[in-house]
Amino acid sequence: MEFEKIFTHVDSDGDLRLLQLTDTHLFANSAMGLLGVNTLASLEAVIAQIQQDDIPFDWVMATGDISQDHSARSYERFVETVSVLEKPILWLPGNHDWQPVMHQTLSQKGLSRAKQLVSDHWQLILLDTQVTEKPHGYLEPEQLDFLARSLSEYPQKHALILMHHQSCSIGCNWLDQHNLKNADAFHEVIAPHPQVKAVLFGHIHQNFEYQSAQLAYIASPSTCIQFLPLSKEFALDRQQPGYRYLKLRANGEIHSRVRRLAGQQFLPDAQSQGY
Ligand SMILES: [Fe+2]
Repeated sequence: MEFEKIFTHVDSDGDLRLLQLTDTHLFANSAMGLLGVNTLASLEAVIAQIQQDDIPFDWVMATGDISQDHSARSYERFVETVSVLEKPILWLPGNHDWQPVMHQTLSQKGLSRAKQLVSDHWQLILLDTQVTEKPHGYLEPEQLDFLARSLSEYPQKHALILMHHQSCSIGCNWLDQHNLKNADAFHEVIAPHPQVKAVLFGHIHQNFEYQSAQLAYIASPSTCIQFLPLSKEFALDRQQPGYRYLKLRANGEIHSRVRRLAGQQFLPDAQSQGY
């Protein structure tokens, strides 16, 4: 498999500014919902919030679970809805995605296939952790090779790694079973590369930030349903959908914050027993 690369230049202050949108779980049918939340309506509300917030950003990062039903229409809906932001979008697959349809539809709708974005001071590396029809993640040797090669290629640039699954414990037992199974192999690859500043992921449908000795682990709310932090069993949260804004500074610092919708418009079905 060939990994495409994009070069981008940022303004004189050197910041690379990102929006993370994750776990949109869209359907072909616009009336469908996930555990009582209409996923298209909640994504549209998040996009409207982004427009209202009017913060400057350069790229959108979609970190997986774009579709819930594997349909081409669901992927088209994602592009149509997010395109109003008029910014380039990079994407990676989550456990719920169907890659043959995902690749074809997103490409047909004009999205890049690139999995490496190289800027003045940073490089972003987008990894595929999907194991077909399984909720957990795994990095195949090809992905680990791509990661190692990319990091060796630009040792002077700070690195942000993006993937769907979490490579650290997040304190939710039921979600931690569905983690990146070979996180040790991942950490072995990045260990000799101190330029790796953070891993940005989706999958856990909640705000999460943890700084280890070497790097930061950062996740974001889904644009639809939210999972309750620090819960042993499956549990939904009444927090609202949202997105994350990240500013990657020229000096390697990451300034980042989560923005959620106000109000209580998107509440999940409290009786849901599973996901
Ligand atoms: Fe998800």
